[in-house]
Amino acid sequence: MCNKRVRILKNLKSRELGDDYMNIGVVGTGLMGSAIAHRLIERGFRTFLYNRTKERAMALVKKGAIQTEYPSDLGRKCDYVIISVTDGIAVKEILFGKNGLVDSKNRKLIVVDTSTVLPEDSIYCANLMKKKGYSIIQAPIMGGPDPTMKGDVISIVSGNKKSIEKSKRILTSYSKKIFNLGIKDGAANFIKLALNLNIALIAISLAESIVFVKKSRIDPAIFLEILNSTYFRTGLSEIKGPKMVKNNFEPKFFLKNMLKDIQLLNDCARQNGITLSFASQAEQYFRIASNKGYSELDYTGILKLFGEFNNLKLSR
Ligand SMILES: NC(=O)c1ccc[n+]([C@@H]2O[C@H](COP(=O)([O-])OP(=O)(O)OC[C@H]3O[C@@H](n4cnc5c(N)ncnc54)[C@H](OP(=O)(O)O)[C@@H]3O)[C@@H](O)[C@H]2O)c1
Repeated sequence: MCNKRVRILKNLKSRELGDDYMNIGVVGTGLMGSAIAHRLIERGFRTFLYNRTKERAMALVKKGAIQTEYPSDLGRKCDYVIISVTDGIAVKEILFGKNGLVDSKNRKLIVVDTSTVLPEDSIYCANLMKKKGYSIIQAPIMGGPDPTMKGDVISIVSGNKKSIEKSKRILTSYSKKIFNLGIKDGAANFIKLALNLNIALIAISLAESIVFVKKSRIDPAIFLEILNSTYFRTGLSEIKGPKMVKNNFEPKFFLKNMLKDIQLLNDCARQNGITLSFASQAEQYFRIASNKGYSELDYTGILKLFGEFNNLKLSR
């Protein structure tokens, strides 16, 4: 682009330039936030970042993103802000903490929260944001960093109808499909927690099968090949399974975050008088694995725990 055009663009607000010049902010540059920001940069959005630990955003800055000091700075510069942080405490800090997004005073801003959090936290945030004159929607994601970078994840959305409509262009930049659950705040979070229970239990069952086959002195790669030839195969057995049999637990979704999600699900179930026996057991196993020091592994590292229960040392 010639210098003159760059100067003209700098003097215009993105809103006056149309969609292609939208400024998008990403809060949280962990595994998922980084993947979202990466995708946005690739798709040509002007991308701003905020991360509590500044160094974690440097790789994206090298790719062209602009790092801000505080969430409030990000809010002032952007039309949309996508949040991808660990939990509800972090989301509240980003929105309402010192120099938080609401301090931006940009009431045209639409906040898209992709974090996996308790439904009640999302409801609290949506109500308080509304009271302060801002808009936030829930948009948790099914799929990890690699599919996010390919625009291949599923987004589940709930909240303010107009804001969902307006956010679709952003959501479709990294999602292949969007499920809109309507205006009930928190609805998307209930579904997301239920989906993650499914993933946790499949990972546990795959891990126990691999241990059983290994202890029987049969190559687990054969077990996996057969499983993946049947209709009992899953995305997990096809994509993560081959890594599990090679004891490759490079994190795409930290085990500590899977523990967090199962804990949220169980807390939510208890509050609503629901008994989930396998979910309670899954929480125990992920907690033991975390206490043993496997927090920073991929959640499929649960295999190491079941290996240890059977005196099976698993290392690469
Ligand atoms: N990874 C996946 O496959 C996946 C898929 C779907 C959904 N999710 C969900 O997406 C969210 C992010 O996951 P992730 O995998 O990116 O996790 P991650 O790599 O552990 O990153 C967590 C992010 O949250 C920030 N954070 C945590 N506590 C904070 C606080 N109190 N204040 C400000 N920032 C805080 C961290 O900042 P620092 O760098 O400063 O610690 C970091 O940017 C989680 O809710 C997770 O459950 C993950």
